[in-house]
Amino acid sequence: MNAYLKLDRIDKHFDRGGVRAEILKDINLTISEGEFVSIIGHSGCGKSTLLNLIAGLTPVSAGAVLFENREVNEPGPERAVVFQNHSLLPWLTVYENVNLAVSKVFNRTKTKTERHDWVTKNLDLVQMAHAKDKRPSEISGGMKQRVGIARALAMEPKIMLLDEPFGALDALTRAHLQDAVMEIHARLGNTMVMITHDVDEAVLLSDRIVMMTNGPAARIGEVLDVTMPRPRNRIELTSDRTYLKCREAVLKFLYERHRFIEAAE
Ligand SMILES: Nc1ncnc2c1ncn2[C@@H]1O[C@H](COP(=O)(O)OP(=O)(O)OP(=O)(O)O)[C@@H](O)[C@H]1O
Ligand SMILES: [Mg+2]
Repeated sequence: MNAYLKLDRIDKHFDRGGVRAEILKDINLTISEGEFVSIIGHSGCGKSTLLNLIAGLTPVSAGAVLFENREVNEPGPERAVVFQNHSLLPWLTVYENVNLAVSKVFNRTKTKTERHDWVTKNLDLVQMAHAKDKRPSEISGGMKQRVGIARALAMEPKIMLLDEPFGALDALTRAHLQDAVMEIHARLGNTMVMITHDVDEAVLLSDRIVMMTNGPAARIGEVLDVTMPRPRNRIELTSDRTYLKCREAVLKFLYERHRFIEAAE
């Protein structure tokens, strides 16, 4: 497998007040270019921490994150993050929020007109061009999330890091955005790493599902290959044998880990 992104023997701990909290232990994972990988695990096990390590927002305690064979130790535009709490700047409009990122990345390589067209194109992609002059406080949670996705996409990142991107959305908006992300992934062929709590979402979108054990010192418990061909249709998949088998495997993993915790309490 071509090691596009490699998590190499990563440990992560936080020290506070002389107490060490072991969060992640011996995380090893290799992701190929264009792969869609989901990370699933119980609340608090360290998923966001892992994504922050890949983003370069948090340093590793041991081991390394390697991207195209270079060590990651700071954020970079080739690794865009979509945060769960749609982190738009409240004083800027929808257009300006996306334009800010575009201006940073394409300052030298695109003219002002090209940058304008590019912002509009990416807002179109998530069907938000109509609200381009609104501020974040004037649009719904789902809309903010779409703008966050447009902003990340507009940077043309080699890797999109998505932290529960659809977590706070109603079922319909969620389905719509999942389909949009699948289409974008198919069209651009970029690499996606997504955290989710939702088993169906993980199976629908992923090429592989990384299942994490409970913390402290969480590890990768299992990695499941999701082999249904693309493009995938959510309705047709409800009776697909491979889909149902994958779903069962993830549910079993989470259920058994959960039981283990309950027994230990
Ligand atoms: N900056 C920090 N300093 C100290 N502890 C932290 C820090 N960031 C995270 N933690 C701790 O690390 C653990 C894992 O947190 P993390 O946010 O990665 O979990 P998660 O799997 O994303 O959970 P959720 O599914 O609820 O989002 C938690 O116990 C949390 O309290
Ligand atoms: Mg989290």
